[in-house]
Amino acid sequence: MDIEGLVTPPPPPPKEGRKYDLIVFGASGYTGRLTCEQVLANTPSTLKWAIAGRSPNKLELLALEYNKRFPDRVPVGIFIANVENEDTLETMARVTRVLITTVGPYLKYGTPVLEACALNGTHYVDATVETTWVREMIKKYHKTATVNGAVIIPQCGVQSAPADLAAHSLVSLIRNRLSCPTDNITFTLLDHVSGVSGGTVETLLSVWEIATLQEMFHARRTYSLSPIKGLDLPFIPPIQQHEDLGILTKNVQASHDEKVVMRSWGLNQGGEWYGRNFMFREYRSVETMFMAVWMYIWMSMIQILPYVTPVRWIIRRYYAPPLGEGPILESTNKYRIEWRGVAEADDDNEEAAKATISILCEKDTYTTTGILLVQTAMSLLSDEETFAKKTGGGVLTPSAAASPAFFMALDRCGFHVETKMMEEF
Ligand SMILES: NC(=O)c1ccc[n+]([C@@H]2O[C@H](COP(=O)([O-])OP(=O)(O)OC[C@H]3O[C@@H](n4cnc5c(N)ncnc54)[C@H](OP(=O)(O)O)[C@@H]3O)[C@@H](O)[C@H]2O)c1
Repeated sequence: MDIEGLVTPPPPPPKEGRKYDLIVFGASGYTGRLTCEQVLANTPSTLKWAIAGRSPNKLELLALEYNKRFPDRVPVGIFIANVENEDTLETMARVTRVLITTVGPYLKYGTPVLEACALNGTHYVDATVETTWVREMIKKYHKTATVNGAVIIPQCGVQSAPADLAAHSLVSLIRNRLSCPTDNITFTLLDHVSGVSGGTVETLLSVWEIATLQEMFHARRTYSLSPIKGLDLPFIPPIQQHEDLGILTKNVQASHDEKVVMRSWGLNQGGEWYGRNFMFREYRSVETMFMAVWMYIWMSMIQILPYVTPVRWIIRRYYAPPLGEGPILESTNKYRIEWRGVAEADDDNEEAAKATISILCEKDTYTTTGILLVQTAMSLLSDEETFAKKTGGGVLTPSAAASPAFFMALDRCGFHVETKMMEEF
């Protein structure tokens, strides 16, 4: 029966036969340029890809440079798209199998891009850190993306993806070795040398201007991104001496990462695969208790101060790099970002078996984000062994692209992940 006024949207075009395998949208930005470097360095030369954005001149210069430096690759295409023109986004989503977008702040610019991908069955990867926005995207587009076979993976940058991949790896190891669920994971950032880009600062500040306090409050709940709710988690002191990981203190990223991990928990067999009692906590490692208290106070201030309008004005005026710019990268070995984690099995033993993870990337944080974005996109294109492939579509999490082949690809790019049962150390 036809009902007047209701228009059935056209079905998404088939993925086979699309002009491009991959488009990097926001290629002229700081993160976008480093993401393109990862495409050039760590994907097959036969990949059909394009750079996209709103500034034709910037894109032409980049394409000229890439095609000159890599004459043996399929030449990179250029696609002009502006988030203020939905038709350009629609066309862009229809000509590629997977889209990476680094056009942020995502709260401001991201929605029509993600919508175009969900409607057109186009896989999508981004580096958002805005949990309030991801919550809204799940509510609005999870079903549409599922129906149209679009795998949407937000929060795939250096913030959020490592925590989610670590949790997935530890749970998998405990499942494989002990055939039991996981009780809890403690994850910590050890070492970290980097600056910030103009786009990152703008994103962190604009969250306070765009999201409401109510949205922020809801997004901070443990299960705010999960399709189901689990147990109420016990209070754990924000500063602690962990028996395996040393002194741990507050990590500003933790409240975002924990929600992503709990979405993975909820998506995998309704929490049964990770475990009914599963709990994930993230910290930052420090050497002394004094440092732990100092860092706790400093991190709490960083989280709260941008709420004050004059503080945002001062940061924008005096401290933030211009948009499009970020830390000047040096060709030295000074960059290093490292995490550790310990998981306890939910077994019947008095003393639970433990598994550990160590993640090391000797690159700056923005290059690390580029690695994670590109290898996730590559996994969505060709990996048959992933949760994303089995699920087929929906707003998922970074670990949905995980598989042995994916971790081997990350390793080749310099992002090393090692998991072991505790007694093996
Ligand atoms: N999760 C993580 O770990 C992580 C890591 C790195 C970055 N990020 C996020 O990535 C985002 C980008 O950061 P960035 O430092 O790369 O920012 P950026 O250098 O300012 O780049 C922004 C890009 O967006 C493009 N753009 C802006 N408005 C547009 C519009 N209306 N239509 C189309 N394109 C538009 C810009 O194009 P023009 O060049 O033409 O201006 C530029 O290419 C931020 O939200 C940041 O928080 C997250």
